[in-house]
Amino acid sequence: MTVEEQGQAVTGHCAQDGRVPDVLTEQSRVARARESGGQPQMAFEGATPYDRYVRTDVLHSIQQTFTDVPEERAFLVASQIMELYFGLLRTEWELAQQHLRADDIRGAVVVLRRSVRQFEALVESWSTIDWLTPMEFNRFRDHLGVASGFQSWAYRRLEHMLGIKQRRLTQLYQGNSAVYEPMMLAFDGPSLYDDAIAALARGGMDIPAEVVHRDFGEDYQPRPEVEAAWLEVYAREQLGDPWWELAEVLTDISAAFTDWRHRHLMAVRRGMGNKVGSGGSSGTAWLEKSLARVVFPEVWSARTAV
Ligand code: HEM
Repeated sequence: MTVEEQGQAVTGHCAQDGRVPDVLTEQSRVARARESGGQPQMAFEGATPYDRYVRTDVLHSIQQTFTDVPEERAFLVASQIMELYFGLLRTEWELAQQHLRADDIRGAVVVLRRSVRQFEALVESWSTIDWLTPMEFNRFRDHLGVASGFQSWAYRRLEHMLGIKQRRLTQLYQGNSAVYEPMMLAFDGPSLYDDAIAALARGGMDIPAEVVHRDFGEDYQPRPEVEAAWLEVYAREQLGDPWWELAEVLTDISAAFTDWRHRHLMAVRRGMGNKVGSGGSSGTAWLEKSLARVVFPEVWSARTAV
């Protein structure tokens, strides 16, 4: 795989490898159903088109646990499912950013709303692993070595899109250019929230240029002018106002992010108490600190003044 192809794998593009199935039309589908009397097609050469599309061969071959402890499989599958959602959320939010940059607020809201559903499913996937007891975890934990979700670049890229920019954490990926290069490009660019603020400013809100054109590689800090803008949006209370919808969907995303972190912390408390983390942190104490950080701060603080 070339670096370019790896970059595509990271950002997720269309299949270019000949797996694209024969294209059907509505007419041909109807004709086929008529011919078969409404029965699904049953004969295929080799793998079914579903297998080829979903890549079930790859998907079901990557549950490679380090032990035979049955609970490890659930732990690995939960991690893989969450990784897939991290990737999906990133591409959805990138699309929403394009809408915001084109001042298509309704288009951005449509995409962000569905991302909230996806985020809720991601949060709910904690149910599939948060039953893990310390005895069960101890049975396979040592075999994970220093592997920790802390090292997830897909999670870290979501944090960047939410305005959490901790440059020192990007060091982890310096040795992996396929991950590091696209990560740093996005890191030094506007977050999803920066794009929402810029759209607000173009939409007539009084937000100073130094806020709109801030140094995007810096961690986002709350600004009174941004709070005032959201306050105005909420105070207008106009039915169907796209800015109000945007404020609400950003609030949903911020809440879902805190929910994910909280469910993670509770799973950690259940699975290992206050032991130190595999990745080298102090464990729950360290996680509690990051849980305290609320993203899109002004959509929350504006509420006090409404
Ligand atoms: C229930 C079993 C789990 C335990 C006991 C656990 C434990 C921990 C601990 C102690 C940390 C702090 C860093 C460290 O020292 O390792 C951490 C961080 C993290 N874990 Fe987990 N984890 C679990 C499941 C998961 C799963 C399934 C995921 C999904 C991929 C995940 C994703 C993360 C992420 C993204 C971080 C970094 C959080 C941040 O930077 O605020 N963890 N985990």
